[in-house]
Amino acid sequence: MSVYSWECLLEVSLSDRVVNFGYLSLNRLSDSVKTDRLALARTPPPCHAAAQAAGQSPSVGERRHTVRVIIIGATGTIGQAVVRAFEGRHEVVRVGHSSGEHQVDIRDRSSIERLLETLGSFDALVSTAGQVKFGPLAELSDADWAFCLSDKLMGQVNLVRVGLKHVREGGSFTLTSGLLARYPTKGGSAITLVNAGLEAFAKAAALEMPRGTRINVVSPPWVSETLEAMGRDGSKGLPAEKVARAYVESVEGTRNGETLDARDFA
Ligand SMILES: NC(=O)c1ccc[n+]([C@@H]2O[C@H](COP(=O)([O-])OP(=O)(O)OC[C@H]3O[C@@H](n4cnc5c(N)ncnc54)[C@H](OP(=O)(O)O)[C@@H]3O)[C@@H](O)[C@H]2O)c1
Repeated sequence: MSVYSWECLLEVSLSDRVVNFGYLSLNRLSDSVKTDRLALARTPPPCHAAAQAAGQSPSVGERRHTVRVIIIGATGTIGQAVVRAFEGRHEVVRVGHSSGEHQVDIRDRSSIERLLETLGSFDALVSTAGQVKFGPLAELSDADWAFCLSDKLMGQVNLVRVGLKHVREGGSFTLTSGLLARYPTKGGSAITLVNAGLEAFAKAAALEMPRGTRINVVSPPWVSETLEAMGRDGSKGLPAEKVARAYVESVEGTRNGETLDARDFA
């Protein structure tokens, strides 16, 4: 399967196949298209620009006391930065897929159940995991769609469904989507569906969260380290350390049912 647009890499986790697709697609685009898209990725939204102009810092959360935070995807590019943002101030539990303190496969509900039974109760669960497939609508196979739905979409939804039994009063869930939810592009139909689905899910689930618990989604733009790993200019993206600030806001603040554009908190 081929890929037509470079934006597919916006969502890429660095698995071999997807990155290879991305390199191919990047080379197919004209420089003007690349420039437009990269400008989009680095341009702060109006609300962020207004806050910066007013000298305001990102909103101050209210859960500054030490809490127990489980990070799924803790060994990844964004996950490692999220770990650094919380460690020292909170009790952090690092979960990877093939590595990390603990392992889980979010595609497998029983794996999630085993993990959370083992770990016990928590105040916050943050997911920075979730893979997707990119490619032309006409070329995405049934297996590609099934992969996207079972991994990034239902994998994260199931973290919440299973996690509800274990989250403490006043706790939270923070999932990860991506900018393609709101900026669709050719070749990104599956990822736009998944990301928009996650954001819609959080909005609706927030209405039913029990015991004062909350749920939000963080939407990262290109991450600098990801661009650099692809041999691209990292300055066109947002450093993972800055992306992590949106996760801190979600966990320590009072938001519920929101999608946090990571550029707003950088
Ligand atoms: N990086 C970007 O530029 C960017 C931009 C927008 C959105 N996003 C989204 O942000 C999320 C994280 O991206 P990333 O770049 O940090 O990814 P990454 O570096 O590839 O890290 C992925 C993390 O998820 C874990 N993981 C992979 N498959 C899993 C599974 N089936 N079950 C549980 N954990 C699994 C990996 O564990 P192991 O290391 O043990 O395999 C790793 O900790 C993704 O959903 C991505 O779509 C990323």
